[in-house]
Amino acid sequence: MEQTFVLVKPDGVQRGLIGEVIARLERRGLKLVGAKFLHVSRKLAEEHYAVHKGKPFYEGLINYITSAPVMAMVWEGPNAVAVVRQTMGATRPYEAAPGTIRHDFGLTVSRNLTHASDSVENAIAEITLWFKPEELVSWGRDT
Ligand code: CMP
Repeated sequence: MEQTFVLVKPDGVQRGLIGEVIARLERRGLKLVGAKFLHVSRKLAEEHYAVHKGKPFYEGLINYITSAPVMAMVWEGPNAVAVVRQTMGATRPYEAAPGTIRHDFGLTVSRNLTHASDSVENAIAEITLWFKPEELVSWGRDT
């Protein structure tokens, strides 16, 4: 079953939106299989955002993501990567479709509330970076 990595970033945490993000992903039918609330180290932030190194917004992004706690999660389900990205909406909140998290709660790209893996390949890499295998919980629902 496909898994994807989701972060509620500092702005989402500070605005009290952890529950909103979790509720929306649960309502879509995805399954939470890993979660941790943590203050991100500079090392982890730099590894996570390595692809953006050198971009004009990189330093601000690293400073920002390490400035306050984040909620890191792994969600599982059919097409989990695409389903989560659809639920989040476009990276730039002003381009996000109505009804998406970023549309409904966001305004600017530098404070876009969440991060979600953009491919199955990156989901595997991000889950491996943020979680140890034993931190992921395998569980089933009653049918
Ligand atoms: P995220 O999905 O976490 O992946 C990279 C992040 O960089 C992105 O969300 C935005 O928060 C941030 N970002 C992308 N483009 C810009 C930009 N032009 N200015 C500031 N931040 C940006």
